[in-house]
Amino acid sequence: MLLFVNACLRDGSRTERLARMWLERRAYEGEVVELSLAELDVNPLDALGANPLAEYSRSVADADYGHPMFALAKQFAQADEVLIAAPFWNYSLPAKLHAYLELVCSQGVTFDIDETGGYVSLVKAQRITYVQTAGGAKVEAADDHSFGYVRTLALRFWHVSQVTCVSAWGVDAPGADVEDLLCAALAEQ
Ligand SMILES: Cc1cc2nc3c(=O)[nH]c(=O)nc-3n(C[C@H](O)[C@H](O)[C@H](O)COP(=O)(O)O)c2cc1C
Repeated sequence: MLLFVNACLRDGSRTERLARMWLERRAYEGEVVELSLAELDVNPLDALGANPLAEYSRSVADADYGHPMFALAKQFAQADEVLIAAPFWNYSLPAKLHAYLELVCSQGVTFDIDETGGYVSLVKAQRITYVQTAGGAKVEAADDHSFGYVRTLALRFWHVSQVTCVSAWGVDAPGADVEDLLCAALAEQ
């Protein structure tokens, strides 16, 4: 199963278009499950609210993952491959995707810690692709807090061997030919 985490939050999203172009080219033979964060109530871990940190800590300590806050992590752990698509926001990624990833990084569900303090992956996926579009031109280290963040999770927690990014920069520049920029981003990958 390829899990498509769609964190595009706007009608007519260019990032979503790029992700669908990537999916078409990928021609994945198995099931593709799309998770639209726009349609999902995703809440961060917090002192109060839907996902209380105390309940998270208790669940991890007891290895009891029955609380609904672990459902997204369980789904992620079962995916054979993951595609994440998100617009580039404030040199980072949308807060909703961050909240989603926070829940996905549930200890005991997608990763664990061994007796030496090392991270042990509990996910099946060996390939994660991150797709983004940005309004402005690329500057050095621009995606440290978007793709760079996802890459760190993928490499450190999940030991994913293939972590790649497809980025289209400058899509909001005056006179930009967005279709050309998206095609070029795909070709560069
Ligand atoms: C809240 C917000 C923050 C943004 N921050 C940046 C930014 O830091 N750098 C940049 O180049 N573009 C920024 N943009 C522009 C988006 O990256 C650009 O419009 C992108 O293509 C949006 O993707 P979409 O068409 O999939 O919604 C921002 C846009 C929004 C709405």
